Amino acid sequence: MTWLGLETIVVPDAATALKFLSAPGSQIKLIIARAQIGKEQSASEIITFIKSKEIETPLIVIGPGKEVPGSFAHIKNSLQLKTMIQGAAKALGITAQSMLEMEVPEYYPIPFSYFSFLKRSVCPVYQKDKKSFVMLFETMKDFSPNEIQKLAEAETENLYIGKMDRLEFVNNLTSELMATLKDEDLSLDEQLSAADSTLMLASKKLMSMGITEETVRFVHKSIETMKRNSKSNTKLSHLLDRLFANKTSYLFTHAQILSYVGLHIIKNIDWGNPEQEEKICFIAFFHDISLEKDEYGRIKSTLELNESDFNEMDRALIENHAQISAELAAQFPHAPMGADQIIRQHHGSLNGVGFSEHFGNNVSPISIVFIVAEEFTRIVLKYADSEMNRSQMIRELKEVFPTSRFQKVIELLNTITF
Ligand SMILES: [Fe+2]
Ligand SMILES: [Fe+2]
Repeated sequence: MTWLGLETIVVPDAATALKFLSAPGSQIKLIIARAQIGKEQSASEIITFIKSKEIETPLIVIGPGKEVPGSFAHIKNSLQLKTMIQGAAKALGITAQSMLEMEVPEYYPIPFSYFSFLKRSVCPVYQKDKKSFVMLFETMKDFSPNEIQKLAEAETENLYIGKMDRLEFVNNLTSELMATLKDEDLSLDEQLSAADSTLMLASKKLMSMGITEETVRFVHKSIETMKRNSKSNTKLSHLLDRLFANKTSYLFTHAQILSYVGLHIIKNIDWGNPEQEEKICFIAFFHDISLEKDEYGRIKSTLELNESDFNEMDRALIENHAQISAELAAQFPHAPMGADQIIRQHHGSLNGVGFSEHFGNNVSPISIVFIVAEEFTRIVLKYADSEMNRSQMIRELKEVFPTSRFQKVIELLNTITF
């Protein structure tokens, strides 16, 4: 509804969908069906039905599974919402221009049921009182459970948000919903999209709320997923291919590859142990967590920062991101020992402000592992579109860090498999 201005009817299975389709005067313009729901082959059941009735409504299949003949499109990763919206627009002949011209009411309705998935809203929420709209919840203030209960008892159908806030609100709601999905219900590709969305949400929450029970839960979930993704891909190129195929964000891709490379080094270094594995994953997750946007994550030197066209506030955030992330890590319950120190110094400056090309002589061994892993991650992502040549990448890495303490760690990357 937000993007295409369509009303949506959600049903639990194919049988119910068929009832809607065969109702006299049915105005269904597009069907989006999961390939399979439980044991039911939902999409193909609907296709068989619409074919037999000569109904011409296009059907988009979502979720893993075999191609369904007769469908308009098949989007295997159902959490790639952008692709899905584009597909739906195409099926209905909705152009970008007509989306812009879409008429939207000043106060935009959001079904009340969605509010049970949220603890607070990223924009003001209004209630309709006869003909006027009254503010009900302020931005980022926790909803009172009493208030929600009262609204439910009054069988409230919709609450409202300002029309300019609708994309932000719906994006946030989507991320919150994605974070509630259980991995066992998702394909591997969908798991990656959900993990990406959860990491971005964790970042926003940490920055706006700090360390709370809720943010701690999000952080644990993200770290666990990244660790599992690292362990389940024996080859780095497999992981890379999947990240690219699912168009994950730069910040997530960077943290995920970094965990993979870091874990490889720790597994092969003589002092490596499970505790250090834990630490490297924690740091990979936290070090850039305050950056919030993909474009910020790509900056790695003062020169690049000066040449960028970010505004003053963005610049300050990028400059201080190591320090801000370190402070958050330091407050995190049971954070691995010394992790905040490594995060603070991950761009080479001791206090976590700015960027330096020179790492002092007193950096700790685990710091060296992290710095090497991060630089290697950058090189890997730089060559991601071309032929991967491990020796060439290692040579580049050795040029960046010529001292023997670094070179010893770099040697361990000779056994990473592409
Ligand atoms: Fe980074
Ligand atoms: Fe960074």
